Amino acid sequence: MGRLPENGVAYETIVITENRHTNATALSATRKGEHILLRSFKGSNTFENLRKTEKFSVNYISSENKEAFIKAAVKGWGDEEREFSDEEISKRYGFPVLKIASGVAICTVEDRELERVEDEIGETEVLKVRGRIVLWEGGAENAIKVGEDRNIMALVAYTRYLISEGEVRGKYRKRAMELADDRDVVGKWVIRNLQP
Ligand SMILES: Cc1cc2nc3c(=O)[nH]c(=O)nc-3n(C[C@H](O)[C@H](O)[C@H](O)COP(=O)(O)O)c2cc1C
Repeated sequence: MGRLPENGVAYETIVITENRHTNATALSATRKGEHILLRSFKGSNTFENLRKTEKFSVNYISSENKEAFIKAAVKGWGDEEREFSDEEISKRYGFPVLKIASGVAICTVEDRELERVEDEIGETEVLKVRGRIVLWEGGAENAIKVGEDRNIMALVAYTRYLISEGEVRGKYRKRAMELADDRDVVGKWVIRNLQP
């Protein structure tokens, strides 16, 4: 068995939930002992799915596969479009995981807490979820930690840009452009999609 994600450290992962369809999304995940903590914002499929369903998988992605974050973060946002095809998914414990993941955790929801938050975009709700790891496979050695990869940070700013308006939207656009590097696969994609 490979190494677990470092305890108490936030990683950029792809979380799969199931409701009417299989949904994959880019989400930060932090392991605390035998649990994984997530924060999912209102307006996303993941928010709705995590409110109603009991299982999720956390897929740790190494740098060479970071292109997958583009699909997970941008495709099927709040709609039924599938982010990954059946060929890209396999099952563990009867639950979907990404074949390209270097490490996967299958979790069962133990606790949910809805919190009102106010940020630059406005007032919204975030669902804080604590899941127990019931199965771990692979290793998280080369997975991307939050704040470690500026092009992934550019992609985060891009997703914020997509859901904001006016001055705030302009600010996220600027942040995404500053962080993105056109020699990187994710950075190049962000720059191209921010062209007027
Ligand atoms: C690297 C990365 C990390 C992200 N982390 C979070 C997060 O922790 N919580 C969240 O609600 N959204 C996060 N997002 C934004 C979601 O991925 C985005 O809103 C997504 O489109 C929601 O998809 P869904 O409707 O399929 O759930 C992140 C985006 C990126 C690119």
